[in-house]
Amino acid sequence: MSISIPRGTQDILPGEVEKWQLIEAKARELCEKYQYQEIRTPIFESTELFSRGVGDSTDIVQKEMYTFEDRGKRSITLRPEGTAAVVRSFVEKKMFGYANQPVKLYYMGPMFRYERPQAGRFRQFVQFGVEALGSNDPAIDAEVISLAMNLYKEMGLRKLKLIINSLGDKESRVAHRDALVNHFKPRIGEFCHDCQNRLEKNPLRILDCKQDRDHELMESAPSILEFLNDFSKAYFEKLQQYLTQLDIPFEVDANLVRGLDYYNHTAFEIMSNAEGFGAITTLCGGGRYNGLAEEIGGPETPGIGFALSIERFIAALNAEGIELETDQGIDCYLAALGEEAKDYTVGLLQQLRMAGISAERDYLDRKFKAQFKAADRLKAKYVAVLGEDELKNKKINLKNMATGDQVEIELDSFVHYFQGLKGE
Ligand code: HAM
Repeated sequence: MSISIPRGTQDILPGEVEKWQLIEAKARELCEKYQYQEIRTPIFESTELFSRGVGDSTDIVQKEMYTFEDRGKRSITLRPEGTAAVVRSFVEKKMFGYANQPVKLYYMGPMFRYERPQAGRFRQFVQFGVEALGSNDPAIDAEVISLAMNLYKEMGLRKLKLIINSLGDKESRVAHRDALVNHFKPRIGEFCHDCQNRLEKNPLRILDCKQDRDHELMESAPSILEFLNDFSKAYFEKLQQYLTQLDIPFEVDANLVRGLDYYNHTAFEIMSNAEGFGAITTLCGGGRYNGLAEEIGGPETPGIGFALSIERFIAALNAEGIELETDQGIDCYLAALGEEAKDYTVGLLQQLRMAGISAERDYLDRKFKAQFKAADRLKAKYVAVLGEDELKNKKINLKNMATGDQVEIELDSFVHYFQGLKGE
């Protein structure tokens, strides 16, 4: 019996993978401009990192983690997100001591959540994320948001909506929390079992409940924005001022709470409003997480970041009908006839490639015509023909596939000649 791919995962095959590479390259290019440096952390971590960091009462920790005991009887979890791991590393590697502050990092790699698979929701997905640690300036919140927006825009997306909210500082959240408890408590019996638990543990999570989202008490729930103290209000206003200054349109949505516990002050999501995008429209989510470093055992450190998945990025490109230029074709196909000529191309191919030219030859002992067909399939810009006669005369025939023009070139200077062509 054949074995099939696990549910909620996918193979990214040639033809599709080039889109991923373009997005990844653009993300790296932007990070270079914005001065974020790459960090690579392990794919698995101690389970405790996520239960403490992401939060015990979140869906991620409660229901979605791939957790197992390793042979040393440690509880290990495949990372469901990147922030907790980056902050763990920041604390462990004492990056708070670096001369350059804030520490600005980015990452790209697979994350794992045991969710119900559907369009845009995978069990293994790739996140690109950034984290800026060590600054409390709302200008860096605006920078992080603009990086995400620019990445989407530079890949051609237009139908984007940015929503922002403030979850305030600790004092504001405590006041809001009390108001939420008072609001839901009298009728908590009408809510799901999870929400009944959330009431005392973390009432904010009730607002994020997928099951009870249509309950009438949801809409009338007290908004965090009414409970922001002066500091939090001023912080949020400054962020809005910077976004306006950067020409980034946004909407404030007081119901945006995000699904992870570490957030305070800024929370944001970027959605696609392309028609036909499907039910899950969030492309990117992020926010501020002052206090997370302390939670993990480090010094008090402010932080802000976002993560987006490449899967949803590509879905948004598809929904907007954006075709990325992926198949560029190769520079040169070496077509050879006769044993000696074929042998010769082994070395010539190597020389071309080492000279920075993408090149291919036949490996199936195909006839001449079939080699030209193969060259066509590879979208070769040039086909170089080497037959027995050419080899004897130390010449090679080069055909420009776009114009049909042919020239004969000295075999010894062919690589040099081709480099010149490429440089034109
Ligand atoms: P998150 O909202 O859980 O936040 O995920 C961020 C993004 O990851 C989502 O907007 C979505 O694009 C993608 N994503 C999440 N789950 C899936 C899935 N099952 N399939 C495909 N894509 C998915 C975080 O992970 C935070 N660590 C973001 C952050 C960084 N906050 C501060 N810094």
